Amino acid sequence: MLTIESLEAGYDRTPVLHSVSISVRPASIVAVIGANGAGKSTLLRAVSGLIVPTAGTVSVDGHRVRFRSEREVVQAGISHVPEGRQVFANLTVRESLGLGAHTIGRTGDITARLADMLELFPELGSRMRSYAGSLSGGQQQMLAIARGLMAGPRYLLLDEPSLGLAPQVVDKIFAALRSLRQRGVGILLVEQNGRMALANADEGCLLEQGHLTMSGTGRKLATDPSVIEKYLGVGTAIGGSTRQMEIAAKLATALRL
Ligand SMILES: Nc1ncnc2c1ncn2[C@@H]1O[C@H](COP(=O)(O)OP(=O)(O)OP(=O)(O)O)[C@@H](O)[C@H]1O
Ligand SMILES: [Mg+2]
Repeated sequence: MLTIESLEAGYDRTPVLHSVSISVRPASIVAVIGANGAGKSTLLRAVSGLIVPTAGTVSVDGHRVRFRSEREVVQAGISHVPEGRQVFANLTVRESLGLGAHTIGRTGDITARLADMLELFPELGSRMRSYAGSLSGGQQQMLAIARGLMAGPRYLLLDEPSLGLAPQVVDKIFAALRSLRQRGVGILLVEQNGRMALANADEGCLLEQGHLTMSGTGRKLATDPSVIEKYLGVGTAIGGSTRQMEIAAKLATALRL
């Protein structure tokens, strides 16, 4: 179990997260929804040590993560796929995946993991020698997730995997997440596409201005009138830039929300 307890984190002297506690069981998906700036990405950054929490604890099966190094976090079984599909444009798909495996180090493991990734994302198979920068947005997101999985994490932290992608591609990404769950991976999923996230999640949490204000089954949140009004109505959850509004409108039309 990944246990996040009373976590506090922020930037410089600005606190963002206020005593956030979330547990992610193996083979489950926990979706965190919330508006722009609520602290969702900050939460994932604090759990993976990209920023060091100012209070609270993160532990895996009772062993506390001390955030001494990136390696320590990976060895604890945590992998973070940040928002914005950060692939290296001038590395090939194969090289990018190899990079994700640098902490495991044994060639045998890498070959087996590569095979796993191609089973999960068959589209990457025919693109192994392509530069990451030449892939479609959806394929880049698949590559970013696959790279995060190459270290063999037991817990995957995923930040906005659906943002800006066409509905058919979003479906493929979520199918891959369900398949990962079936393989035992625990997934902490941050999404502005709240409907899709909650529909696939075992549990959902609502983050408002750095406070966890509601949690329960995905279904409970998805059917809660105040959550629907504030976060699941067309365009409301997104609320940010014009670009994001356009993406939300397109997704909403395609999903017939
Ligand atoms: N690198 C940073 N330095 C300083 N403040 C930051 C930084 N990143 C985020 N913040 C601030 O922290 C707060 C939470 O931001 P965060 O990115 O975690 O929100 P979010 O819920 O992920 O939003 P979005 O839905 O837009 O991705 C915001 O007020 C934001 O301005
Ligand atoms: Mg974010």
